Amino acid sequence: MKILGIESSCDETACAVVEDGRRILSSAVASQVEEHKLYGGVVPEIASRRHAEAISGLCACALKDAGCTMDDIGGIAVTYGPGLIGALLCGVSFAKGLALAADKPLIPVNHLKGHVATNYLTTPDLTPPFLCLIVSGGHSHIVEVKSYTEYRVVGRTRDDAAGEAFDKTARVLGFPYPGGVYVDRAAAQGDPAAFRLPHPSVDGGPYDFSFSGLKTAVINLVHTMEQRGEPFRREDVAASFTATVCDLLCGRTLAAAKALGYRTVCVAGGVSANSHLRGEMQRRCNREGIRLYLPETSLCGDNAAMIASQGFFELQAGNTAGPDLNGFASLRLENCKIC
Ligand code: KG4
Ligand code: ZN
Repeated sequence: MKILGIESSCDETACAVVEDGRRILSSAVASQVEEHKLYGGVVPEIASRRHAEAISGLCACALKDAGCTMDDIGGIAVTYGPGLIGALLCGVSFAKGLALAADKPLIPVNHLKGHVATNYLTTPDLTPPFLCLIVSGGHSHIVEVKSYTEYRVVGRTRDDAAGEAFDKTARVLGFPYPGGVYVDRAAAQGDPAAFRLPHPSVDGGPYDFSFSGLKTAVINLVHTMEQRGEPFRREDVAASFTATVCDLLCGRTLAAAKALGYRTVCVAGGVSANSHLRGEMQRRCNREGIRLYLPETSLCGDNAAMIASQGFFELQAGNTAGPDLNGFASLRLENCKIC
């Protein structure tokens, strides 16, 4: 069955067609990043306007690229949260109209579950259960993926997300927004032991994260060196920061896998494109005899193929919505049928 996926939760408008949850027939993405770069971050009102402008044409492109028409589509999957509310409503309203006009099932998809589905697209024989580290611009979670649609959150960030810490580190080092990829490249040229940074643990949450202190430590370190006129290599700051974040992410994920008895681990979300995280997670999983699955790097950022993939499994589980579907800015991962 072919599912049309629609994604508009942040600064990428995306439409895609995926067959049986696993095979990408088309994937169109219109990124607004160049415009938001001017402001050093996403401007919600601009994001909503661009989604509204792009979504209809992009959907037509995705259908054409897949060589199909609406008649071939078995369901319309749309991101209904979490994300920027105005941005979400563009996708949700468009999907509702299309589902009504074409008489197709409307399938609400949690954006983070969509990220996890990039692993189904990358590894066609991967099936739940497994443990997944989800690391994006707005979220950092360790989750038990019990089935395609049932999740249990094991750990979460208490403050900033991993991607946010990458972006703030990038900004203080003078890289453009979104800076994760620049920090990744710079870190490859730096010394990870050049600076000692805090490894915060969270009281009462062995699998929780806290990145706000680490982010502040990097900002203070750079500002202090600048004020004193001390020369430093930004590659060394990037490498020290990256090594600390990756140590925290990998350490807690593998501790959770051990405690809960998981032998299969996946990673998902924008930060899963990070080369150091991928390498470090692979090394540690090899050492522990755990199977690791990573999404193709081209699927790590926001796209609609992941929404169409998850949409297929939601439809199979009977999770559809009516024309009263709304967007939810802080939609949760657990029990997120329809809030
Ligand atoms: O999942 P995503 O595309 O959007 C959200 O759902 O938030 O994640 C975007 C985040 C940004 O913070 C970006 O800087 C980060 O992913 N990111 C990276 C890399 N590529 C993207 N962080 C570290 N290393 C990368 N290579
Ligand atoms: Zn995302």
